Amino acid sequence: MSRDYQKLKALEDFRVLDAPQLLPCPPPPLPPTEEQMILRMLVRPKYGPFHIPPSLAWLEDTIRDMAALDHSLTGIGHSWCYVTVRHGPVTTKTDDEWHFDGASFRTTLIPERNYVWVDHTPFQYKLGAVEFPHDFDPNKHNLFTYADQVTKDSPIFTTWARSWYLINPFCLHRRDPNTPKDRPRTFIRISFPDIEGRDVNNTHNPLLPTPAWGRDPVRDFRNQLKDYDA
Ligand SMILES: [Fe+2]
Repeated sequence: MSRDYQKLKALEDFRVLDAPQLLPCPPPPLPPTEEQMILRMLVRPKYGPFHIPPSLAWLEDTIRDMAALDHSLTGIGHSWCYVTVRHGPVTTKTDDEWHFDGASFRTTLIPERNYVWVDHTPFQYKLGAVEFPHDFDPNKHNLFTYADQVTKDSPIFTTWARSWYLINPFCLHRRDPNTPKDRPRTFIRISFPDIEGRDVNNTHNPLLPTPAWGRDPVRDFRNQLKDYDA
């Protein structure tokens, strides 16, 4: 994969889809025995130290290792860092749909990096070329459904379980729709965006001030996008 992570993301970057990048990293430590559901918890502001709460103490070394790896892969030393852990029954629905991580165009940004690991039933991805019509506007049209539609004849690839991957915004992926709902699953995502999340749905980090934001980007932005009518 040859992406310049220091170059601002543009629609033309999505013309060629990327595969997830398999990383030679050791597995994370064993998670706690009880269920854990942490959604995009802020653990490091862009300029500042880590604030790892007790609930994520088991993952602290991995979080720090991934931050060092991200720095060496991208040359970017200062990023926000968010952690998601879903350790228990599979309950969320939208991950089953084809999507890009960090593909919003509301703000012009460098590409976000997401480092993911799952213990079983790993995620799927598609490759291919995506041509955009001149009037395609990612702030009006749904990039996810458009990319899914134009790659509908592309083969579906599956990643390896128990392996670390780097997913960049140009990787069209989804959770396997046949992921068993009754079998506990451990999913870990360590994200490095260049912008603060400010999402009301994020799990609060008790070591950091309570956020005053009431933003819900999925409801207020993503769900307002229209499918592009070819
Ligand atoms: Fe994703």
